[in-house]
Amino acid sequence: MALKITVIGTGYLGATHAAAMAELGFEVLGLDVVPEKIELLASGRVPMYEPGLEELLAKHVAGIEGSSGRLRFTTSWEEVGAFGDVHFVCVNTPQKHGEYACDMSYVDAAFTSLAGVVREGALVVGKSTVPVGSAERLAALLPEGVELAWNPEFLREGFAVQDTLHPDRIVVGVRGHGERAEKTLREVYAVPVGEGSPFVVTDFPTAELVKTAANSFLATKISFINAMAEVCEAAGGDVAKLAEAIGHDDRIGAKFLRAGIGFGGGCLPKDIRAFMARAGELGADQALTFLREIDSINMRRRGQMVEMAREALGGSTFLGRRVAVLGATFKPDSDDVRDSPALNVAGQIHLQGGQVTVYDPKGMENARRVFPTLGYADSALEAVRGADVVLHLTEWREFRELDPAELAKVVASRVVLDGRNALDGERWRAAGWTYRAMGRPRA
Ligand code: UGA
Repeated sequence: MALKITVIGTGYLGATHAAAMAELGFEVLGLDVVPEKIELLASGRVPMYEPGLEELLAKHVAGIEGSSGRLRFTTSWEEVGAFGDVHFVCVNTPQKHGEYACDMSYVDAAFTSLAGVVREGALVVGKSTVPVGSAERLAALLPEGVELAWNPEFLREGFAVQDTLHPDRIVVGVRGHGERAEKTLREVYAVPVGEGSPFVVTDFPTAELVKTAANSFLATKISFINAMAEVCEAAGGDVAKLAEAIGHDDRIGAKFLRAGIGFGGGCLPKDIRAFMARAGELGADQALTFLREIDSINMRRRGQMVEMAREALGGSTFLGRRVAVLGATFKPDSDDVRDSPALNVAGQIHLQGGQVTVYDPKGMENARRVFPTLGYADSALEAVRGADVVLHLTEWREFRELDPAELAKVVASRVVLDGRNALDGERWRAAGWTYRAMGRPRA
């Protein structure tokens, strides 16, 4: 009999994981405590923008014409307990208000509810990003005869479906020998493992640490190149060329070396902070003090962008000046504005008296919700109309495809600042613009 799988928590991670499990051929039941989310998912729609996810849901959600019917959603814990052979816990662990540590209350609540209903012999699999030591503690909440495994997730927003179906590695933390847990998860992931995804078995703490270590490394790479951008700015160098040149060394690698206004989102910033907080609790804080610097370099980039804009406007005040901001999300192909560098820069300029108009292809609704006092336009052309300076802050394809000559006709001043080093500077200059990018010489 094929394994029956439940997925607890249907945010980015859970909704994608549930749809992917159905795609791999399993019967899947997704649970969330928010009934509106469940209603939406049960109709094959998702509460966020994630390329390919709605299509995958529509392919499997029961009740949708032509679907496999393998994927259903519920708010009932009893149903989940009775159904599942394997339960994936995918709830989020946001940063605690006013602290570096992450908030474990959703994970704890999920384990407590699950413990009351789970069948003997079932396997519980934690996927949420948690402080090291959590799995050991959570295992104690589960009844006798129910095993726990820790299986961190490495999906990127914007590529969630692809990353889940074709992971570049599968990490499974088990307790003791954990043969049964390993065997079950090998069955769950038989297809990607068959396609060549490495399957790495570890103990609990290592599996938990792999996740935070990976995100810390990525954050470090970005802040490293942004630190080089600061030096390039001071020395007249070109950080894009520098990144290209060092990236040819495959020990360094060219990926994640894009200098600009830095990283944001719901993962990298909070994960490095929670990691520092946890290391402190463990008495190993010195090992991670460098992450404080990674965080500072990153936050400095936002201020640097604001200063570039101020300088472009003559160097003194934003009062009464019109600033167009292209991009609000923390990265392209997402509608997520959590800790978005773009929105942060737009907000800072607005709070200093600038008249800011924002346009983003998918993030408008979320941006309006968190920053209702900014101006918003329905297109890039409308956003830049009358602008004294244009800021490119999220590298959507739509912005790379803009015609600088068209935009030139409607702005008050042809100055564009590229906060993502992603526009074709030559093209903009050829259309009469002053083009400036971070960490690169003025032409
Ligand atoms: C990140 C990790 O990349 C995933 O592997 C991980 O699973 C996920 O967090 C998570 O913990 O759930 P994500 O937050 O979707 O994924 O975004 P990234 O693609 O990592 O980008 C993060 C930020 O770094 C964005 O703001 C992006 O603009 C910025 N970035 C990225 C740069 O500034 N420069 C770069 O070269 C690359």
